[in-house]
Amino acid sequence: ASRSDLPGLTILIAAPRGFCAGVDRAIEIVERALEKYGAPVYVRHEIVHNRYVVEGLKAKGAIFVEELDEVPDDAPVVFSAHGVPKAVPAEAERRKLLYVDATCPLVSKVHRQAERLLEKDRHILFIGHRGHPEVIGTMGQVEPGQMTLVETVEDVTNLPFDSEDNLAFLTQTTLSVDDTAEIIRALQERFPSIAAPKAEDICYATSNRQAAVKELAPGSDLVLVIGAPNSSNSLRLVEVAERCGTPARLIQRAQEIQPEWLEGVGTVGLTAGASAPETLVREVVAKLSEWREIEERPILVTEEKMTFKLPRELVD
Ligand code: F3S
Repeated sequence: ASRSDLPGLTILIAAPRGFCAGVDRAIEIVERALEKYGAPVYVRHEIVHNRYVVEGLKAKGAIFVEELDEVPDDAPVVFSAHGVPKAVPAEAERRKLLYVDATCPLVSKVHRQAERLLEKDRHILFIGHRGHPEVIGTMGQVEPGQMTLVETVEDVTNLPFDSEDNLAFLTQTTLSVDDTAEIIRALQERFPSIAAPKAEDICYATSNRQAAVKELAPGSDLVLVIGAPNSSNSLRLVEVAERCGTPARLIQRAQEIQPEWLEGVGTVGLTAGASAPETLVREVVAKLSEWREIEERPILVTEEKMTFKLPRELVD
């Protein structure tokens, strides 16, 4: 069928969506490091979890590695937005490497909270997803045994502590707002004197993107989330849509969209994770408009004005 035979398609487009202030800053750090020091600039781990962003920086001369031992002694290295265990800058200093830390300031804030809790002799229960680089980085702020990972409500039941123990909890920044609230409730029930962070550790960008999906999913027949399979905040957006009862798909690029996904669909909800650039959103809208007459409608839940300062060494 040609486009004119098919009914129109409404796109409910989430706002806010896409880049957060921490991702913006991390990418700018790599770009400025390339300008200041010249290529190659090494980056430890994907600077943000997005292939398009990583490929773009590679083309400008960034080299992505997983560990510091892959970085030569005379090359600058940037640490990714997710944060790194303390051992990483320590090793960089030992080797006298020139390094720039692109850890999101909101992740660094959690790191500092962990240090302060340890000074008060509290054992930290850290709510997060095992294996995610942010979790590895935050758990690496303390010695083994000082922090215990909690992933689920069941984990809370199995914790080897009792209600008299001096406990505190912290969380990963990109979790599901609803799941985390449940885990915190379970923790507070079992350990009534557990210390909570002053403000929530889940970041503004994560909660705003989830809130926008909650607004648009009930009125959509399908939700598309642009993001990478290893992007924690993007995966959470898919879950939020599904919990509203709307089928949702995670896609990295427009070309992944199959025409049959749109059969019987009159309204598509569209959002992008915090590491996905707006170009990829426009690409998806363009793809959909090849097949159907589209109407774009923004679903705005809040406006974001957050920005973070760059590290001093990169500001001229
Ligand atoms: Fe930072 Fe949140 Fe973005 S922790 S990197 S502002 S998703």
